[in-house]
Amino acid sequence: MSERIEILLDEDTVDAKVKEIGELISRDYEGEEVHMICILKGGVYFMTELSKRVTVPVSMDFMAVSSYGAGTESTGRVKIIKDLDDPVEGKNVLIVEDIVDTGRTLTNLKALLKQRNPKSIKICTLLDKPDRRVVEMKADYTCFEIPNEFVVGYGLDYAQKYRNLPYIGIVKFDEE
Ligand code: IMP
Ligand code: MG
Repeated sequence: MSERIEILLDEDTVDAKVKEIGELISRDYEGEEVHMICILKGGVYFMTELSKRVTVPVSMDFMAVSSYGAGTESTGRVKIIKDLDDPVEGKNVLIVEDIVDTGRTLTNLKALLKQRNPKSIKICTLLDKPDRRVVEMKADYTCFEIPNEFVVGYGLDYAQKYRNLPYIGIVKFDEE
């Protein structure tokens, strides 16, 4: 078996949309500062590109999490692999994520960060697969809604590969 990547959203399309969402965030946070929290590793490319398009003052921090409770445990919880360096108390937190799939990770993460008393908390995602949702979760900013396909590029990986693609593609498997 070998895999190939079929382009779903090309580089220009992604760049234009990221710029547009950056401008929207700049308007929404007018007169405020925004504290972007990147969810590692998938959110890295999106957060760096997005933050370049935001004109209000930006600070940033990084967090790595893994979701468990995917089975019967309906509450679900998020395990912190790498916590934030700085407190979020009193800050306008904007969680920046690569993709919302079942919705578990962001639902749990938002609840966890809320306990740390930010001034506000919003979610910005590059991609959304609404068909896959298990837990109700709506991001405040979504660049693209996509069909139920496994995608890579712009930070997203398949077995840690393809994160560096400048576009978003669907992984296709061919018999050799
Ligand atoms: P969920 O919303 O809790 O199911 O988790 C979403 C996480 O699953 C994302 O942050 C990704 O790391 C991963 N994920 C979901 N769908 C894809 C995909 O199509 N490609 C790559 N990673 C994905
Ligand atoms: Mg992720």
